[in-house]
Amino acid sequence: MSRIGDLFFFRKHHVCPRWLCFTFDNWVRRRIQNPDQIIRPCVRAGDTVVDVGPGIGFFTIPMARLVGDSGRVIAVDIQEEMLAAISKRASGAGVAHRITPQLASPVSLNVTVLADFILAFWMAHEVPDQERFFAQLYAVLKDDGKFLLAEPKLHVSRPQFDAAIGTAQKAGFRLLDRPSVSLSLAALFAKR
Ligand SMILES: C[S@@+](CC[C@H](N)C(=O)[O-])C[C@H]1O[C@@H](n2cnc3c(N)ncnc32)[C@H](O)[C@@H]1O
Repeated sequence: MSRIGDLFFFRKHHVCPRWLCFTFDNWVRRRIQNPDQIIRPCVRAGDTVVDVGPGIGFFTIPMARLVGDSGRVIAVDIQEEMLAAISKRASGAGVAHRITPQLASPVSLNVTVLADFILAFWMAHEVPDQERFFAQLYAVLKDDGKFLLAEPKLHVSRPQFDAAIGTAQKAGFRLLDRPSVSLSLAALFAKR
């Protein structure tokens, strides 16, 4: 039974499977946790944004709308099924040309561009080596860029989140704020 719990709550670094996305990417969450309100302060037209661990694009599509035709969103996931779902949704929303799906491996982001903004929303607890992960994010962020980390309160305790903040700071990130995000623990970082 506890193994089923571990799987469902992604404890022990299980990766969220595609079939579970309907539980958190739906209109109910959109009402409680409006993606536009969360990302609007961080994303401007023309920006290059990295959405790491985007799932099926809860934030990717709204960010693609915000960056406009002069910007782009790189959706980086380790599961091809997630990226395929994003591409399908993006076509429906008319923003596919602004999104680059990028397949990563659990140990390498495979991102070569520099980002104005990085979003890691409800995904870092699935990454086994956070030290390496934050170091890679630090390397792809522009000097004046921002990084928003948010973890689900359901899966990540406050001490675990504080430890993740410490790991991000060790990688070089400077903690700017702890924004209030519903259902989440969140931290906004700058590179310098
Ligand atoms: C719970 S989903 C969150 C989706 C989305 N960010 C949201 O808020 O709806 C976590 C996603 O992170 C991805 N993921 C897990 N480890 C990853 C890694 N090391 N690099 C990139 N993506 C990863 C999973 O494949 C999954 O799509």
